[in-house]
Amino acid sequence: MQTYDNLDQLSDAAAAEVVRVAHESVKARGRFTLALAGGNTPRATYERLATRHRNDVDWTRTVIVFGDERVVPVDDARSNYRMAREALLSRVPIPPDAVHAVATDAASAAEAARLYDDTLRRELGQDSVAGATVDLALLGVGPDGHTASLFPGTPAVLEQTRWAVPVDAPTTVQPAVPRVTTTLPFLNAARTAMFLVAGKDKRPVMREILDQADSARRFPAALVAPSGRLLWMIDRTAMPDDLSNA
Ligand code: 6PG
Repeated sequence: MQTYDNLDQLSDAAAAEVVRVAHESVKARGRFTLALAGGNTPRATYERLATRHRNDVDWTRTVIVFGDERVVPVDDARSNYRMAREALLSRVPIPPDAVHAVATDAASAAEAARLYDDTLRRELGQDSVAGATVDLALLGVGPDGHTASLFPGTPAVLEQTRWAVPVDAPTTVQPAVPRVTTTLPFLNAARTAMFLVAGKDKRPVMREILDQADSARRFPAALVAPSGRLLWMIDRTAMPDDLSNA
């Protein structure tokens, strides 16, 4: 676990870590597979990748998927794809066919999830033979303990087989729109899972997760336990006071 004084420092470190994993992955397997997180926290990391690190990643060997998506049109301000496109994807030389967005124009969230499960298996299947899904899964945490769109107490959290499932509009956080999310079997097979956490509304939930209290198991974020590496990058505002110097 690493803590940072502010979101700028966290984003500097997160972008540098993405670059490092990208290098290592291309060297080992000839490509870099990255699952992006939505929400607000990763935006500054994506912007650094598109600017100061633009030439540090071999974008032509990078494959992008999304850890979750809100079922809204691609140009909607709430779209995770739109955020990633604006902050990163439109600014780097990544081949368009290497970016795999959720088809939010499908007939239903269930259909979009089914199609996305197919997409993930098709694009990442070659690695899954080796037991892995992506090289790096970026994740966030909500104040209710959700990660990706795995909300506490919802059936998606219990999924054992599928890599992508539909989720009803959450009642605990905004935006209250249906989602498509990757699942714990998908996230726990990432070679590295990296949480980016900022904001004081997350302190209560971070206290339980970092204490590794049994009670934290009700928070889906606490159930991410990949067989590879798990990194927590936390802005000081999100750290419970008495843990912030740990
Ligand atoms: C989403 C996200 C979600 C996010 C957390 C934290 O689509 O909402 O992927 O899991 O990572 O809600 O979001 P913030 O970084 O905005 O706090």
